[in-house]
Amino acid sequence: MTVVVTGASGQFGRATVEGLLQRLPPEEIVVMTREPAKLADLQARGLDVRRGDFNDPVSLETAFAGADRMLLISASLVGSGSPSTPTPSTPPRRPA
Ligand SMILES: NC(=O)c1ccc[n+]([C@@H]2O[C@H](COP(=O)([O-])OP(=O)(O)OC[C@H]3O[C@@H](n4cnc5c(N)ncnc54)[C@H](OP(=O)(O)O)[C@@H]3O)[C@@H](O)[C@H]2O)c1
Repeated sequence: MTVVVTGASGQFGRATVEGLLQRLPPEEIVVMTREPAKLADLQARGLDVRRGDFNDPVSLETAFAGADRMLLISASLVGSGSPSTPTPSTPPRRPA
């Protein structure tokens, strides 16, 4: 089983990855970041580091490829960039 973890370079993500490493071998863990150099230490420990950006859907296809499970650690940006999704500050449009 392969698990992909987003937000892996953050405070929450790093703690999550350490917890996962108690349960899974490193080769079954994919960690996502916009800057792979930030996770060089995890790569050295055998994890699969992939570049991914919530604002770049194509990068997510690559980052998530082949994973069976996802631990999605959100950022304040998740969902705010979709042109079809109103942001919390945008009231829904009334039907004409
Ligand atoms: N820390 C806690 O104890 C805690 C508790 C409850 C809830 N939370 C929530 O958990 C989330 C993470 O908190 P944190 O404290 O770990 O934050 P953090 O240390 O600031 O880390 C933010 C993470 O979000 C990633 N990120 C930011 N923008 C991104 C984007 N456009 N695409 C992909 N990844 C992006 C960053 O990755 P890169 O910069 O490497 O790309 C980084 O790994 C937040 O929503 C927070 O509200 C945290």
